[in-house]
Amino acid sequence: EKGGHASFMHKEIAEQPRAVADTLLGRIGADGELLLDELRIPAAELREVDKVVVVACGTAFHAGLIAKYAIEHWTRIPCEVEPASEFRHRDPILDARTLVVAVSQSGETMDTLMALRHAREQGSRVLAICNTNGSTIPRESDAVLYTHAGPEVAVASTKAFLTQLVACYLVALYLGQVRGTKWGDEIQGVVRDLAGIAGAVERVLADMEPVRALARSLAGAGTVLFLGRHVGYPVALEGALKLKELAYMHAEGFAAGELKHGPIALVEEGLPVVVVVPSPRGRSVLHDKIVSNIQEIRARGARTIVIAEEGDETVLPCADHVVWVPVTPTLLQPLVTTVPLQVFACELAVARGNEVDQPRNLAKSVTVE
Ligand code: M6R
Repeated sequence: EKGGHASFMHKEIAEQPRAVADTLLGRIGADGELLLDELRIPAAELREVDKVVVVACGTAFHAGLIAKYAIEHWTRIPCEVEPASEFRHRDPILDARTLVVAVSQSGETMDTLMALRHAREQGSRVLAICNTNGSTIPRESDAVLYTHAGPEVAVASTKAFLTQLVACYLVALYLGQVRGTKWGDEIQGVVRDLAGIAGAVERVLADMEPVRALARSLAGAGTVLFLGRHVGYPVALEGALKLKELAYMHAEGFAAGELKHGPIALVEEGLPVVVVVPSPRGRSVLHDKIVSNIQEIRARGARTIVIAEEGDETVLPCADHVVWVPVTPTLLQPLVTTVPLQVFACELAVARGNEVDQPRNLAKSVTVE
């Protein structure tokens, strides 16, 4: 069943280019227009939406955090993202013009299910992004966009996450298309870039041996920090979550701009810090700020592990290790920058003798409260 792979997680990481391509299949028309009639929410209603709220748990919540950047940029609709376990127990402001997006691989996560019920009781429309056909969350939603990752067996989510991102981008771009935004041309370009993204993921996977070697060298580390900005921030959170659940190591993700507000006190000689660097093109301010963050922590002894775009030589003087990822538009970068972090956590877990597919204390689907 593992098709020659050491674990389901290894297999599922390797399947990501296909999972991403399958999730795009049939959803992009010949002229680059998005074909999402399957949502069955009339365009007129989508034009009325004045707020999007994403609810999800764990890794799916991280996909939601990234979705916010895409939705607000391409549609100019305000978007909130909240762990379903928090949302369901408070009194959120919702109405018929709020579109609630519930993201779940399994479609059975109790907190996410309760959050969507909470939203529907208040008249909101719920769109599920889900990987499991016919599961409870899509059944109870008004609409569903299925991710086509195929069955995900390993407890740690990998290929489902990448396809959740693709689905979130599709929803954001589709909302932009239906409503018409000033980013029309950009949207066309991004759709073309999305169509080529599976190849970029494939290229990242083809060169993971240095990441594995690096992970093995860190098997004795106590703490690993992850830093990012913009969409790289949720990627940092996801990198830290993967490391916690698989390697049972203390790991934390931070917004790099928050460093000097506290976390930098943690930095000491030899501390491994993984930094997700945005593209130097486009939003170059972000890039330059993160390069100075890397310099700050390195000056305090951190061992800097930098995920950067191919050709970005500005990181070389301050990086102890560089992992190169293909040139990708900023908003889509999480599709390539997450992959080395998955491989890193998986290899560290193996090096520490942990059971990769079944980490201790965890269940694949949390169907209890
Ligand atoms: O099935 P779901 O996507 O609703 O699951 C949500 C979380 O339980 C899940 O993503 C969890 O955080 C994973 N173990 C992370 O790798």
